[in-house]
This record gives sequence, structure tokens and C-alpha cells, in this order.
Amino acid sequence: MTFPLRLGVNIDHVATIRNARGGDHPDPVRAAEIIARAGGDGVTAHLREDRRHIRDDDVRRIQAATGLPLNLEMAATDEMLEIALAHGPHAVCIVPERREERTTEGGLDAAGQHNHLHPIVRKLEDAGIRVSLFIGPEERQVDAALRLGVPVVEFHTGEYAHAEGEQVAAELKRIADMAALAAKNGIEPHAGHGLTYANVQPIAAIPQLAELNIGHFLIGEAVFVGLEAAVRRMRDLMDAAR
Ligand code: PXP
Repeated sequence: MTFPLRLGVNIDHVATIRNARGGDHPDPVRAAEIIARAGGDGVTAHLREDRRHIRDDDVRRIQAATGLPLNLEMAATDEMLEIALAHGPHAVCIVPERREERTTEGGLDAAGQHNHLHPIVRKLEDAGIRVSLFIGPEERQVDAALRLGVPVVEFHTGEYAHAEGEQVAAELKRIADMAALAAKNGIEPHAGHGLTYANVQPIAAIPQLAELNIGHFLIGEAVFVGLEAAVRRMRDLMDAAR
């Protein structure tokens, strides 16, 4: 059976535009309110170590202003753990983070970092926060997620989004196979990164996926058509593919 697919909208780049001028416009909180009206199911924000887009106070304000669940993306560091525990978002997605990268370029090496991740995952879960790991669509990473006991994994769709020719179908199959493996083992699979109107539908058609997180394209498109229209169109394309 295919169940509805949730859309989480990543609002980091609303903050990127705000920070370019150092003031308070455009406000990510206003974006969160519009996303709720447009049929988004959640708001995603990545509090990076260098605070290049979302800042600590945005996390608090987004939570206070919107009824939508907040999915806080963060690196597995003591500082971020403390912030997550203080704010208690609905979910935390643990992502790899390198200071010099432009965006999250690859999945988390959950397999190689079990001992580092285990206590962080436990503390978040003990606080009632739903933990997700942002991993590549690889069997060893799904196995590692199982060993860590997380309820959710988010598959990095960047390689699919950047693939060309025959490689597209191969990348899609990797994601579909790993979504099926995760679901079979009781882990809820999500996906995201690099998704656009043009490439979202084959991903949205993968029946086990429960949520897509989409940011950069939607905020870019919002410049032309407005955020509400951009989110509505993405929602319609996802629903049509289901
Ligand atoms: N999911 C995760 C875990 C991310 O870190 C990001 C952004 O890097 C996204 C989804 C959204 O990716 P994009 O901005 O390319 O849509």
C-alpha cells in the first residue's frame, strides 16, 4: 500500500538571503508560516557550526511561531546536541558537516562512526526527539542505522540529482532498493537533496518513502513565483507521482 508522502521544506536559504544584508528580512519564520498554508508538512533547518544561514535564535522563533513539526539538521557534536536538547524539536536529522563545503555533499558514515553516534542518538531519543541519519543509499549504512536503533533514515539523493543518461536509472534503483530494505527492517525512509520539479517524481513514486526534504530549489523558485506557489506545485507533483 502506498501512503501519503510528506513534504518538509528546508528554509535555510531564506536565512542565507537575510544574512547577505545582516538585517532581519526575509524572515525564515514568515517562510515557515507560508509553508504551512501551502500544504507543507514540516519545516527543516540546518544549524551549521558556522551559522552561515539559520542561527540559534531562528530555531526558537520557528518553533514558537509555527505548528508545523521542526526537523533540525545538525552535525553530531556536543554543542549541537546541547542545543537540540534545549529546544526539543520534533526530529533531529544527523548530517555530516565540513566547514569548507557549500552544502551537505555526501551521506553520514554511520557505519564508520558507530561509537561516536551511539551516545548522541540515545540522548536525543531519551529526550523524545525522533532521530534520523542522513545516509547514502548503501546497504552498509542501512545496517549501521539498524545497529544504532534509529527510527528514520534520510537517503541523500544528490548523486541521483546530478546523474546523467543511464546513470539516472541506476541511482534511482539504489534509492528504491535501500528504501525497501529500510522499511522491511522497520526504519522509516525519507529522502532529499537536489530535488526539483524535474526530478522529484521518480523519487516520490518510491512507495516506501514517507517524507521528502527539499530546500534550495524551492527557495530559488520562490524568487520567481512566490514561496506559496512553489510549495504548492511541488506538493502537486509529489501527489501526482504517488
Ligand atoms: N536533507 C538534508 C539532510 C539536507 O542536509 C539538505 C540540504 O543540504 C536537504 C535535505 C535539502 O537539499 P536541497 O537544498 O538540495 O533541496
